[in-house]
Amino acid sequence: MTDADFTPDTAAAVRQLRDELNAQGKKLVFTNGCFDLLHAGHVRYLADARALGDAMVVALNSDASVRALKGSSRPLNNENDRAEVLCALRVVDAVVVFDDERVTSLIEAIRPHVYAKGGDYTVESLNAEERAALQSVGAEIRILPLVPGRSTTATIQKMHAPQGGKLRIAVLGSGVGSNFSAIVDAIQDGKLDAEVVAAISDQKDSGFLAVARKAGIPSHFVDPGTNPKKLGEAAQKEIFDHLERARTDVVVLAGFMRILKDPVIREYSGRIVNVHPSLLPKHKGAHAVQDALDAGDSEAGCTIHLVTAEIDTGDILEQGRVPVLPGDTAAVLHDRIKQVEHVLLPQVLKEWRQRGLAVR
Ligand code: GAR
Repeated sequence: MTDADFTPDTAAAVRQLRDELNAQGKKLVFTNGCFDLLHAGHVRYLADARALGDAMVVALNSDASVRALKGSSRPLNNENDRAEVLCALRVVDAVVVFDDERVTSLIEAIRPHVYAKGGDYTVESLNAEERAALQSVGAEIRILPLVPGRSTTATIQKMHAPQGGKLRIAVLGSGVGSNFSAIVDAIQDGKLDAEVVAAISDQKDSGFLAVARKAGIPSHFVDPGTNPKKLGEAAQKEIFDHLERARTDVVVLAGFMRILKDPVIREYSGRIVNVHPSLLPKHKGAHAVQDALDAGDSEAGCTIHLVTAEIDTGDILEQGRVPVLPGDTAAVLHDRIKQVEHVLLPQVLKEWRQRGLAVR
């Protein structure tokens, strides 16, 4: 077989497949993505999506649209090769390459019965135009859980990661510092081969800074400015300077309650990890534990995830679950969640390099 022997499907052919299925009372599933370097996370996701119907079409981002989404170094594999690899999977019945930023026109042309999307989205955060198109063709929208720790970006970084050496971590926090203590303890007990090179807080008298002082870790209070939620531009730059001076590999947000922006977000992309007290993508924001109680959830938990410019949305590295018990207050439930955070956060740091996460 040569390059010329493979051609992806057309929207018209897939529409015909959909109409045939429809006549038999069967369902066509539709999903979309870049699928640049296929890994187990993709394969498991695709199998789960296919199980929602009787056949599945994958709408594959063209090379130009992958470049627009992921930057000039992507895709690694051209659209024809990516389509061919996808088509070889037992769970994929058709692949259509699309060039637009949105899949709206393909949804309208194909009229799938089910639309599947990965769990980094919620129904609410789907693009409004695509959601409207799905509603107009009567497609059922299904969000499927992501497989934590598997991503093309992580695989690429693993290939580039230098080997060995102590991980130089800087920890940022605003609260009592129990997660920070768990990291310090793991290092002192020899369970985590890392060095905390800086501890930075926006709260002058925080327990967090007290943990740093007690452990003899270089600590810095950064004046956040006048806005109670945001960090001023000067503070953003000051934090960046502290990180750079300490030659930081990885930035850990351990209860840091302000939003980091550039230059830190840009320069430490893929190297900032956050612990959040909910099962993301559920309950983003500063009141996650109370939000879980208010929603009547029977289960809560925590998420360790990479930080991007968009709040509480980066790649999920680990999640831990705890039950919500009768009579729980936010404080009691939060303490139960923290017990799990104290295990998972040091563990992710310990495995940072093996997981192929970036260090410099
Ligand atoms: C932790 O539970 C962490 O998940 C949460 O703050 C707490 C800090 O506790 N972070 C967030 O809510 C971020 N949105 P600690 O100071 O005892 O480590």
